[in-house]
Amino acid sequence: MKIKAVLFVLFLCTGFIYSQIGNPTDWLTKEFHKERRDKFRAKMPKNSVAVFFANPVRNRANDVDYVFHQDPNFYYLTGYREPNAVLVIFADEQTDENKNTYHEILYVQEKNKRREQWDGARLGIQGAKEKLGFKMVKNGEGFINSDVNYKNFDNIFIDGKFKDDYRNTSERIDVLALVKSFKQKTGYNPQVLLSPIVSTIYNYIRETPVEDRDKLVTVIKQYQARMPDLQGDPFIQNYIKAGNDEIAKDAQKNIVLAMQASSNIDISFIPEQMATLREVKTQEELKLLTKAVRISAIGQIEVMKAMKPHMSETELQGIHEFVYKKYGAEYEGYPSIVGAGNNGCILHYIENSKTKVGNDLVLMDLGAEYRGYTADVTRTIPASGKFTPEQKAIYDLVYEAQEAGISKYIIGESMQAPVQIARKIINEGLAKLGIIESPTSKHGYFPHGTSHHIGLDVHDPGNYGKFEKNMVVTMEPGIYIPEGSPCDKKWWGIAVRIEDDILVTDGKPINLSGEAPRKSEEIEKMMAKKSVLDSFLLPDLDKK
Ligand code: GLY
Ligand code: MN
Ligand code: MN
Repeated sequence: MKIKAVLFVLFLCTGFIYSQIGNPTDWLTKEFHKERRDKFRAKMPKNSVAVFFANPVRNRANDVDYVFHQDPNFYYLTGYREPNAVLVIFADEQTDENKNTYHEILYVQEKNKRREQWDGARLGIQGAKEKLGFKMVKNGEGFINSDVNYKNFDNIFIDGKFKDDYRNTSERIDVLALVKSFKQKTGYNPQVLLSPIVSTIYNYIRETPVEDRDKLVTVIKQYQARMPDLQGDPFIQNYIKAGNDEIAKDAQKNIVLAMQASSNIDISFIPEQMATLREVKTQEELKLLTKAVRISAIGQIEVMKAMKPHMSETELQGIHEFVYKKYGAEYEGYPSIVGAGNNGCILHYIENSKTKVGNDLVLMDLGAEYRGYTADVTRTIPASGKFTPEQKAIYDLVYEAQEAGISKYIIGESMQAPVQIARKIINEGLAKLGIIESPTSKHGYFPHGTSHHIGLDVHDPGNYGKFEKNMVVTMEPGIYIPEGSPCDKKWWGIAVRIEDDILVTDGKPINLSGEAPRKSEEIEKMMAKKSVLDSFLLPDLDKK
């Protein structure tokens, strides 16, 4: 019995070790992250501190959350892929009470046997030190109880977008506004209501001579009687409870510092610096990004071979994503877009719900995410395997615009040059085909730009000035002619986008997604090939 138990434990351990050994090892290295942090710190002004928060976990429904994805800036600087974490970078070396010196602290979520049994292993403090190479690591409690005096810094940098990302600023009334209104109506979160009053009381304290403190304390207590949450403010409580004038003066000073500190919060420094760091890729990044792009291009090739008019948009999406998984890509960089015919006119169509693509053009914009890096590749192909004359006319025009655009991906060239030349070619072409009156006619058939950085984000940050070596930028012109457009009906429902991921080099640009055919003739040739999926048949669930 005992031997059996020992063997069972050994078996479990072996399984554990194997699963650790079997995990991918080609994530960015800790040296990469450290070097990036050092570069970031070098840009910080003296006596400043930068605070980065991990992404929140978002709820999908009931007790199911969306798959967690780390905030890309946080990942870029740490390599940490768990939630509930904070990174603090100091411009200057700090010394703690034990005389330890440090210039950065990573706060991680604590190890928790029970949670780890359900959700997977956590790095914890020790793991973060060993695997990520941080010298000073604490847990979340360490952040909350931190003795770092943030008030003492001239600048506190936070990463622009605070993590209230259920904000939707493109809607006049988003869910946050609705929640806020609900809170105001019900007093659910009085803190939100009280913040203006807190600052009013801070101002009273700041401006009241210490001799008049008793009078002010009486007033504050009256406020507190009506607004119990005011009692929770530590600065106000210290002022009220001060035993003598000296302590009261200190409390006053702390309030002044707290007010100054809040005005020293800067939300633009981090996004600006991170854009400059992230827009040019290192060799280590290029390796992963190239792999993500190649995987995505190969997905397009497999779909070209497998495409049949009876297939659904969902099924085609599944073929792309199966190829990604086959290569070990952990996710898609953005929701896959597969739109047949008129659906292709919806630029970010992610429903992918049409049950038969028929003989339409199918626009497929998908990107694998490999070790955090995401591709962004679009091909538009005729489900029948052959372009109709109208489809081909539009397709070849987009191709011509794309080719001209790619030729501008040269060091020192303006990043606006590709879209400018693409627009010129498309306007002239549409006029020639009689879809618009003249090349200068206003129209909505090409409603987007052509060139964005890719990297840890599908729309990676950048300064969008001039092309530099080792930038990877998309080139994606398109023409979309929705049903009911003011042109001959024969063009209706045609939507074409061709999108490739271009690496800027010392010499000619390199099309990283170029192995997926782009020319209309080459697409037709590829589509004529057999696919292993031709014989992949599943039981018909509707058959009785
Ligand atoms: N897939 C999103 C884009 O092309 O920008
Ligand atoms: Mn794109
Ligand atoms: Mn795209």
